[in-house]
Amino acid sequence: MEDGGKAAGRKPCCVTNRRTIICLIFLCSFVILYGFNMSETSNTWTGLNNKRTTTNMTTSTPPSSEYKSPGPYLVEYPHKYNFIINQPTKCEELKPFLVLVVPVAPQNIEDRKIIRDTWGAREVLSNKNVTLFFLLGLGEINENELLEESKHHKDIIQSDFVDCYKNLTIKTMVMLEWLDTYCHQASYAMKIDSDMFLNVPKLIEMLEHAPKTNYLSGLVEWAASVHRHTTSKWFVPFEIFSRTTFPPYALGLGYVLSLNLPKKLLEASQEVKALYIEDVYLGMCMHHLGLSPTDPLIQGAFHVFPLYYNRCQYSKIIATTLDTHTNRRQLWADFTKPGPYC
Ligand SMILES: *[C@@H]1O[C@H](CO)[C@@H](O)[C@H](O)[C@H]1NC(C)=O
Ligand SMILES: *[C@@H]1O[C@H](CO)[C@@H](O)[C@H](O)[C@H]1NC(C)=O
Ligand SMILES: *[C@@H]1O[C@H](CO)[C@@H](O)[C@H](O)[C@H]1NC(C)=O
Repeated sequence: MEDGGKAAGRKPCCVTNRRTIICLIFLCSFVILYGFNMSETSNTWTGLNNKRTTTNMTTSTPPSSEYKSPGPYLVEYPHKYNFIINQPTKCEELKPFLVLVVPVAPQNIEDRKIIRDTWGAREVLSNKNVTLFFLLGLGEINENELLEESKHHKDIIQSDFVDCYKNLTIKTMVMLEWLDTYCHQASYAMKIDSDMFLNVPKLIEMLEHAPKTNYLSGLVEWAASVHRHTTSKWFVPFEIFSRTTFPPYALGLGYVLSLNLPKKLLEASQEVKALYIEDVYLGMCMHHLGLSPTDPLIQGAFHVFPLYYNRCQYSKIIATTLDTHTNRRQLWADFTKPGPYC
């Protein structure tokens, strides 16, 4: 169990490293002998020069001219992705306690509108700033329209990878890069899917009692089985991950993390191969760091199956998936009307 995350990540790295080291030892011996011979026939400086040139030429890896796909179960990460649309100063200005990041497809304008009008609308809660951002990849949308939307709402972040289900892990890692670079002033970040209901005051109430570092919480899967059936949406072959269960991870629909974690998780991602299942992959990186997600301090706070709307019950939870037919604006109007919840 305790080796779950590393099985997929570390092993291939170690093999490469060992090979490189053996290679280097051979090379060094050769170079030293060669350089020694040279110093006998000419002066020492020439020998040293030759030594340098030889090392340089033989160890340099061949130029990466040909694109190599990571295959169907891994994604192109780490990789240098760029932010095409960015909000680089907002966190610095607002020093938010909580940052909400909603991964959404570029063309999904409707969900962004609804979220801005409902749970994303509140910017200050119990004297704490809350900031909302939407994270997009590349997709079917008029870039000018998107720039207009960004100029108006100042909540769009867009990176230059192809936005699709298979690439969600890239999105999550790019989110961590963004948080680490532009938002380390914040205390916590919540990644939440665009079709969810989020009770921000309840989330803040929980975070006020949560650990300040190495904290990741949500709906935790403590020992999820690896899907070995090729028809499964989450199929992972044995060669990619050999253990029967994944390390603990928080379900991707919504999880919250302390802002000291993005840097650590990014470091771990250098050594753990990027599996296409984004929430599992974060669990693997946490495991690699010797860390674990934790159950929410409020029991039953996260719901993966749509919880039927009930004003009293919704006031006690943090997040739930919503039935696709739910009128979210209507729900919000009812939820936020004056008067006691229960
Ligand atoms: C060889 O080393 C020099 C100096 O360190 C560097 O500028 C050059 O790019 C290297 N060449 C190769 C092929 O790696
Ligand atoms: C919240 O943001 C405002 C700017 O809108 C800033 O002046 C204030 O200091 C922030 N509050 C906290 C607690 O950082
Ligand atoms: C994921 O994004 C990368 C980078 O943009 C791209 O090369 C790759 O084709 C994408 N994957 C899919 C399945 O579209």
